[in-house]
Amino acid sequence: MTNALVVRPFVFLVASVAALGGLLFGYDTGVISGAVLFVTRDFGLSTALQAFTVSIVLLGAIAGSAVAGTLADRIGRRMTLLAAGVIFGAGALLSAFAPSIVVLLVARSIVGIAIGFSSVVAPLYISEVAPPNVRGALVSLYQFAITIGILAAFLLDYALAASGAWRWMLGLAVVPSLILIVGMTLLPESPRFLFKIGRVDDARDELRNIAGGAQIDDEERSIVASLAVKKGGFAALASPTARAALFVGVALAFLQQVTGINTVIYYGPRIFQMAGIGSNEASILATAAVGVVNVLLTLVAIFFVDGVGRKPLLYAGCAGMGISLAALAFAFSQPNLHGALAAIALVATMMYVGSFAYSLGPIVWLLISEIFPLQARGLGMSLCTLANWAANFFVSQFFLTMIERLGRPLTFAVYATLCVVTIVFVARAVPETKHEMLEEIRVAT
Ligand code: BGC
Repeated sequence: MTNALVVRPFVFLVASVAALGGLLFGYDTGVISGAVLFVTRDFGLSTALQAFTVSIVLLGAIAGSAVAGTLADRIGRRMTLLAAGVIFGAGALLSAFAPSIVVLLVARSIVGIAIGFSSVVAPLYISEVAPPNVRGALVSLYQFAITIGILAAFLLDYALAASGAWRWMLGLAVVPSLILIVGMTLLPESPRFLFKIGRVDDARDELRNIAGGAQIDDEERSIVASLAVKKGGFAALASPTARAALFVGVALAFLQQVTGINTVIYYGPRIFQMAGIGSNEASILATAAVGVVNVLLTLVAIFFVDGVGRKPLLYAGCAGMGISLAALAFAFSQPNLHGALAAIALVATMMYVGSFAYSLGPIVWLLISEIFPLQARGLGMSLCTLANWAANFFVSQFFLTMIERLGRPLTFAVYATLCVVTIVFVARAVPETKHEMLEEIRVAT
């Protein structure tokens, strides 16, 4: 088990505030599925416009993540997260007061941009301020916040469904946005960014603050050495190590999505209904239970990712995901499972999400924030996150079509096969990064 619980309060506070970016990411991607029913009622949306109202946030996230890294390298990690907070808040307010569907669509794309910003910069900032021995736990805190955001969105949607108060559902995100804004105004900049822009004394102070009096000479020497490479931006990504990191990072970000997680997160009730959990109430309740499992199992990563390491958790989690998806494929292929099908679907879905929660969920965000050399980190992280959002958009757009064209068993079998691909990829290409200083991490070329 890691010594996550003995992290210095200051470092824990810094990571927790940054993790609010994750909370907003989870909340804002989750909340729309419930809200859209009432938006449809009020604005009389066609089916196509309904689908667009749900997915426009992902397009915003693609755009936001594309520019966030460059911004984080120019104005700093802290200012970019602060900007994310302001944009989140503005998007939430505009959504809540939107007089027409056009304004609502604009507001949701603004929220998407903020999600794109925070999904690049929150993990990046946390990993740069975290001491090496607890970096895994602290970046996993970000994923923990995402899962809490998803669950909160779901519960609020449920609680407000009777009144159909979609403006409240979308507008309440302003509360964590304000906390993020205030927090980022008070918190320090990443010491690595300060070294990068030549503010050496401030950088040393921050490093000392984080280390709580422990020796920082080695760390400082490594950071300064990594900055000897003067190239930034795309030129920094051209070095063999950075290119190898980009390949591994983009592949991991892509695999996190194409193994199907958001089919369950976005279409949970629909999957349960396919399995014969008849009533709306029961399938919504089952989806809430999935949300709770998602939150709780993320704790496994927080406690073990620095002790056991990244790769063992990835193997165990992807194996669990693969087995549960295969069980779902099998269950859906049987003509006469009746009640048993519902039970298998329920258990398999829980096990699938639980396995994701301590593996591909947190560890992909962690690894992509760790593997790039400092000069290439912002841009590299941006490109990986862009791949993640693009794959997310693709999978969530085509899931229902896949079910229609390939059938249920084959659809889940495809996701199961991709879990096996992920295990092989992790074994062959992914470095173990636990306890290493960021500057020591190298992806084999
Ligand atoms: C993924 C999201 C997903 C969430 C589920 C995150 O790591 O990037 O796409 O919805 O986990 O908990």
